[in-house]
Amino acid sequence: MKKDFKRYLITSALPYANGPIHLGHLAGVYVPSDIYTRYQRLRGKDIIHICGSDEHGIPITLKARNEGVSPQDIVDRYHAINKKAFEDFGISFDIYSRTSNKIHHETASEFFKNLYEKGEFLEKTSEQYYDTDTNTFLADRYITGTCPHCSNQGAYGDQCEQCGTSLSPSDLINPTSTISGSKPVLKETKHWYLPLDKYEPWLKEWILEEHKEWKPNVYGQCKSWIDQGLHPRAVSRDLDWGVPVPVKDADGKVLYVWFDAPIGYISATKELTEDWEKYWKDEDSRMIHFIGKDNIVFHCIIFPAMLKAEGSYILPDNVPANEFLNLENDKISTSRNWAVWLHEYLEDFPEKQDVLRYTLCANAPENKDNDFTWKDFQNRNNNELVAILGNFVNRTLVLTHKYFDGVIPPATTLTESDQKVLNEIQTIATSVENSLENFRFREAIKLAMDLARLGNKYLADTEPWKVIKNDEERVKTILNISLQITANLTLLLEPFLPFSMEKLRGFINFKETTWELLGNAELLKEGHRINKTSLLFDKIEDEQIQHQLDKLNSTKEENMNEAPVTPQKPEITFDDFTKMDIRTATILEAEKVPKTKKLIKMLVDTGIDQRTIVSGIAEFYDPEKLPGQKVCVLVNLAPRNIKGIESQGMILLSENSNGQLYFIEPGEDAHNGAEIN
Ligand code: 2FM
Ligand code: ZN
Repeated sequence: MKKDFKRYLITSALPYANGPIHLGHLAGVYVPSDIYTRYQRLRGKDIIHICGSDEHGIPITLKARNEGVSPQDIVDRYHAINKKAFEDFGISFDIYSRTSNKIHHETASEFFKNLYEKGEFLEKTSEQYYDTDTNTFLADRYITGTCPHCSNQGAYGDQCEQCGTSLSPSDLINPTSTISGSKPVLKETKHWYLPLDKYEPWLKEWILEEHKEWKPNVYGQCKSWIDQGLHPRAVSRDLDWGVPVPVKDADGKVLYVWFDAPIGYISATKELTEDWEKYWKDEDSRMIHFIGKDNIVFHCIIFPAMLKAEGSYILPDNVPANEFLNLENDKISTSRNWAVWLHEYLEDFPEKQDVLRYTLCANAPENKDNDFTWKDFQNRNNNELVAILGNFVNRTLVLTHKYFDGVIPPATTLTESDQKVLNEIQTIATSVENSLENFRFREAIKLAMDLARLGNKYLADTEPWKVIKNDEERVKTILNISLQITANLTLLLEPFLPFSMEKLRGFINFKETTWELLGNAELLKEGHRINKTSLLFDKIEDEQIQHQLDKLNSTKEENMNEAPVTPQKPEITFDDFTKMDIRTATILEAEKVPKTKKLIKMLVDTGIDQRTIVSGIAEFYDPEKLPGQKVCVLVNLAPRNIKGIESQGMILLSENSNGQLYFIEPGEDAHNGAEIN
């Protein structure tokens, strides 16, 4: 049986303060966490919702360097933008703090010291690449070079994005610093490591046995990490921006951003309330982390291991991470400016917070990546919020003014179907509750809208505008029931559409916001007077949508113009060219290579034979749809071992300006084995 917790500690991932919030952040983390928190508040729970800016890490220092300002300038700028955007959008954090605060530096420092003094860390000296031009050690991502496996010249120090192989910087041929462009040198450096391997048996038991109820995407990612075996992780970095490592001989070293950021949840709670310990140290508190899928490992494995090592804190009870949201069929990307920024949305649609909240929740990337399109946004508004919810409420309120001067009429005699409709309110409320308790927000919002659908159907079935001609008593009952549905809607939809429900409460002159009242058929008493009303939602016109699409298209064009063109490679002879044997081929079978993000293993008919080829295209193609696809294959490339699979050839791909890869397709009627010259 589920434990009955006394209080809730809700955390939402601390966004990096090096860029504005976009729709992907909202759909993945902040809309669901806000809905959940508002719902539990309505239920009268003791609940706090914690967030703030994550203000450390290398990308912030690089952005500062590029702009010629200090890292503090960068985080001050984006902290202010994001804090205001969240507020204006109605994300009801109890605190929006920041990790450059003194209280955070002290808290993170103490946390580290505590583990250090308990002997929890390993100290290791290793050689790392160092940029002598800028006097900085280079994080893996900031070193590029040639991949030893596929000769891609732009492989990163941690991974080759072309063939998908995980690398370490020392694997790269011709390593180059992306910061200065110079050749880095190896230099010794000491760091502190959290021995995750020591916590492996405990993590296995705690997650894999005791938290089988976690979402399959979360549980699966944890299992895959644990199954691969856990290793000590460095928790310090050579950098001058962050929380200094609080021990002797640690000059120029700071805590790794992923060590200090989650401690930010603790420091923000301390900043919020003197009573912070009851949320963090009492087993009756339920901690829930709302995050995106790229944060799963940190919140489910590393932070819990840190908390366990410390010993006095509770652990997360659930981590309902979401997948990613795409935008108009393309990955959201800050660097390519392919995003809808929250602060810009709020400028363009200053009164339409709820439309976006609704769209993002109804189409949330809960179990798989999903796509946001402006057309869907318009449809959700016009066909659902306006046509279903707005229409029902408007008809009810207008008729109440028209027939009864804005005064709630009595429900005199209830028919069997009236009673059924009233009972249905409770049924719907219970199912919404059940979905919310289980973090199924898409389902919850759909079910909640069923109450407005029920209201519309009730009006369509009973037709008060006709009945009024000869049976006013009956219309009194019909409108009384419709008004009770309206009042119930203000409660049921409050977590999802807080701005509109506040407006609606104003229309019907109703102040209650207690979830327990849901299902009550007498929320508005006979004789109660409602206020003047206006439309709850209005239509979004095609021009408004076109304006947004034009904005995105101009981004696309800019990207196209700026797409970097790599310099021409050294000259080759005609003989060199003819050595390449490229053939038309057809993919017969395709499957994702387990435990990799990008690789697909294919069986390909080259006309010469059937062979296996591995290619880094999983982000762009669904393996299930590949059989039958015609491709061009370099068939005489020496076989290469990719993740333990022998890949016998290379499929030719082209890249568009957004970094997406496409097959170069031979003509429709080309037969397998046809040569390509
Ligand atoms: O991925 C991110 O945007 C991180 N800044 C999230 C940090 S969450 C927590 F640990 F603070
Ligand atoms: Zn490679």
